[in-house]
Amino acid sequence: MNKSAIGVFDSGVGGLSCVKELLHILPGEDIKYLGDTLRMPYGVKTIEQLHTCANDNVAFLQRRGVKLIAAACGTVSSNVPKAHIDNLTVPFVDVINPTVNATLKATKTKRVGIIATPATIRANSMGKRLQEMDGEIQIIGVACPDFVPLIESGHICDDIIRKSAEGYLAEIKAFGVDTLILGCTHYPLISAVIGDIMGDGVTLIDSGRETAIGIRMTLEKLNLLNSRESGGSAEYFVTNNTEAFDSVAKVFLGEDAHIKSILKNIED
Ligand code: DGL
Repeated sequence: MNKSAIGVFDSGVGGLSCVKELLHILPGEDIKYLGDTLRMPYGVKTIEQLHTCANDNVAFLQRRGVKLIAAACGTVSSNVPKAHIDNLTVPFVDVINPTVNATLKATKTKRVGIIATPATIRANSMGKRLQEMDGEIQIIGVACPDFVPLIESGHICDDIIRKSAEGYLAEIKAFGVDTLILGCTHYPLISAVIGDIMGDGVTLIDSGRETAIGIRMTLEKLNLLNSRESGGSAEYFVTNNTEAFDSVAKVFLGEDAHIKSILKNIED
């Protein structure tokens, strides 16, 4: 048993897809969330830049005494393996394994789509892992560079995001998949639009939600769960523009989540 908080980071609001599920499946846990909005978007950064971001985010959360850190970010997870993170002193969960495991369970036709940031598609970590686990799986990956800036500026369910999604998803629809990985944790925020375009026959894999399930499994295995069954609290730190973060977070998590983010320097 361990009463310390769970640390979760992303470049912005995307990791809230993980938090949303954590609030549901582990309501007794405290959460410390970091959205590195000053350096967002991560999806167009080099591996070196992503390495620096991952190190800084891990250090920020470790200074706050968390018991586990989750990179609720497909881009960091795909480009910075755990072994490359400096001075990591707590258990670490990323997006890749939980998302791959859920996909393997979901697909029947073994035709899988991945949509993610350019850096995630470039690294192809999820695709490689999927094919290691099942050599028959056929994959189509499409980078969607416009999604993160649109979502961060509040385009979650309007014509602008729909038009953008129709463009990116056309190739995947033509390929014919039964499972589509939302490989960037921002994308579950627009899953209604994506699901509508893809149609009922396609299962969407929410990488944020799967990461939350991975966190619970890890805490269980290491005997680090908080014994409390409800009453957990969440603190949200951002490195830029609290208003923009709060307004998207409120739409996604609901008014009951009482979002009021705190502006911090990443070195704080
Ligand atoms: N939500 C992140 C991801 O899963 C980061 C996206 C970005 O900042 O470009 O990839």
